[in-house]
Amino acid sequence: MNTNFQGRLAVVTGASSGIGLAVCDLLLQRGARVLAFSRRLGALEALQALHPEQLHWCAGDVTDIDALHGLAERAGRLGAVDYLVPNAGIARLAPGCDMQAFEQQWQVNGAGAINTFQVLRPHLARPASVVFISTFLRQLGFAGLGGYIASKAALSALVRSLALEHAGDGLRLNLVSPGPTATPIWNSLGLADDALAGVASEVGKRLVDGEFLDPQAIAEVVLFQLSNGARGVHGQDWVVDKGYTLQ
Ligand SMILES: NC(=O)c1ccc[n+]([C@@H]2O[C@H](COP(=O)([O-])OP(=O)(O)OC[C@H]3O[C@@H](n4cnc5c(N)ncnc54)[C@H](OP(=O)(O)O)[C@@H]3O)[C@@H](O)[C@H]2O)c1
Repeated sequence: MNTNFQGRLAVVTGASSGIGLAVCDLLLQRGARVLAFSRRLGALEALQALHPEQLHWCAGDVTDIDALHGLAERAGRLGAVDYLVPNAGIARLAPGCDMQAFEQQWQVNGAGAINTFQVLRPHLARPASVVFISTFLRQLGFAGLGGYIASKAALSALVRSLALEHAGDGLRLNLVSPGPTATPIWNSLGLADDALAGVASEVGKRLVDGEFLDPQAIAEVVLFQLSNGARGVHGQDWVVDKGYTLQ
């Protein structure tokens, strides 16, 4: 039996849907205690009913530093944090020159993730493992998603250096870059149904089986990176994209 996660404490942001929710679900199934953070309870409600003792929820926004301090305080009361997944993210369609759109996405996807790590850092166990979430697009272009991609590419670059800065403290920092994954983020782009179906069809042509990933497939890799099995992995950014970036 894999007892890696049994009784350990994990903090996951962006936990109310999609990939964050799948990470929480898998951590709970493996016996971890989870402190989940998001603005809405969302689909966490069903998980709370299944794991009333193991799952804790803290409401807040990663762009609000006071809310992050509230999260850290809550974590401190639960014990040392073994695993941290700053996953909260947004995607907005906007022209690449729209710096307001870039700034808005950077505040959540970049600064939000780094500030989550920074504020939680005093509460991390030694050793602890941190997995940030970037994107398969971080080295590619995608019309309308320049600001989103830039926010994630900067995050990936920052984490490589942070991994070096904190390795000596017993902290292991890595990233997972999900490929096209079936989550509500695609609907949040604001495209009409037929336009979204067109994008999905074009994206699907580059995936080995034509189907978007399911969030659980990303969560499995995140959990491996969190686990002791990945103890030799530092500052790496693993792409999980069904081959999108291969051609
Ligand atoms: N799905 C994909 O194809 C894909 C591909 C590459 C990378 N990613 C990345 O994967 C991560 C998870 O995205 P997803 O696909 O699972 O999307 P999702 O289903 O829309 O989930 C996003 C999560 O982030 C939370 N969130 C958004 N803004 C927040 C804020 N300001 N403060 C706190 N929480 C916030 C949302 O919860 P609330 O609204 O309740 O706050 C939600 O729980 C993101 O970083 C995304 O960029 C996704």
